[in-house]
Amino acid sequence: MNSHHEQCMKAIVIEKFGGPEELMLKKMAIPEPNPGEVQIRISYAAVNPVDWKIRQGHLHPKIPHQFPIILGWDASGTISKVGQGVDQFKVGDEVFAYCRKPTIQWGTYAEYVCLEAENVAHKPTNLSFAQAAAFPLSGLTAWQSLFDVTKIKEGDSVLIQAGAGGVGSLAIQFAKIAGATVFTTGSESNHTFLKRLGADIVIDYRNDSIEEIVKNHTKNGLDIIFDTIGGEVYRNSYKLLKRGGKIVSLLEQPNKELEEKYGVESFYVFVVPNGNELEDIANLIQEGKVVPIPIHEFPLEKAAEAHESSQEGHVQGKIVLKIM
Ligand SMILES: NC(=O)c1ccc[n+]([C@@H]2O[C@H](COP(=O)([O-])OP(=O)(O)OC[C@H]3O[C@@H](n4cnc5c(N)ncnc54)[C@H](OP(=O)(O)O)[C@@H]3O)[C@@H](O)[C@H]2O)c1
Repeated sequence: MNSHHEQCMKAIVIEKFGGPEELMLKKMAIPEPNPGEVQIRISYAAVNPVDWKIRQGHLHPKIPHQFPIILGWDASGTISKVGQGVDQFKVGDEVFAYCRKPTIQWGTYAEYVCLEAENVAHKPTNLSFAQAAAFPLSGLTAWQSLFDVTKIKEGDSVLIQAGAGGVGSLAIQFAKIAGATVFTTGSESNHTFLKRLGADIVIDYRNDSIEEIVKNHTKNGLDIIFDTIGGEVYRNSYKLLKRGGKIVSLLEQPNKELEEKYGVESFYVFVVPNGNELEDIANLIQEGKVVPIPIHEFPLEKAAEAHESSQEGHVQGKIVLKIM
């Protein structure tokens, strides 16, 4: 970084772990791209549950942290600089990216972020920047869980927990593209939305018996369960699978005891940045096969309110922060 003419940007920063009140609007130095990296001028950042978990200190010390921390792992924006050796992007390209790095420090609640060009993808032209910011982390999570881990295929029956959330609303769409029969859970007010996304069987988790519904609609149980909830919901899911079925969780490590009891396989996924997979998702959006999910917009300065809303756990679609 050029210390003589160091340029500044606004960013939402935490200087220690804690509640939403720790989110502060600060001036930070604009990061410069290393070789192989691009600099993105950010239009929108998405708010993911992991952001407030990081704020609370839940990822420490699993991932190294360096204070002050700019939170945020999702961005849409425009390439503003390219580092040495980058030839797949040029200044002015409209992009989106999942911006997780080895150390938690330089996130996307800011006007600029730098990251490896291989983790960036071209933004579909039929999405606004606000809509595009909702996709990278959630989209890659659903993609890696369903396609890379469970290898979902035509004719599979799959239960997607929390279908109305950021991950669930994309997982439903991907599972339909794979040719699966999709069961999903959501409160009743979300059922029309869930059907519009393509879900075949919608379950009111507050009032319906999932077990009965699965029994009535499958021969021996489900092929795949995508768990986005964890805890009791996770442990109670195993019995819904057929023998040889698979459960993939975003919150729980594989449970050997339940695997053996029900004759199934279990997996844990921690989403990894992948520009190629994000380009595949972008192509499906561009072709109209995947549709944008609802977004709830807050200005960057209101990041604390956005966190409070995410923490309540009932956002339909995604919260995004408008940066510029
Ligand atoms: N391991 C990883 O790599 C990874 C990646 C992404 C996310 N995650 C984690 O996965 C979880 C989900 O993430 P997300 O971004 O999809 O969250 P989100 O968007 O905040 O999810 C909100 C949705 O959850 C639904 N919901 C809440 N409780 C429910 C229940 N008991 N049963 C069914 N639906 C319920 C709500 O629908 P209703 O209003 O209808 O209740 C709401 O639409 C978070 O804990 C997140 O941290 C992990």
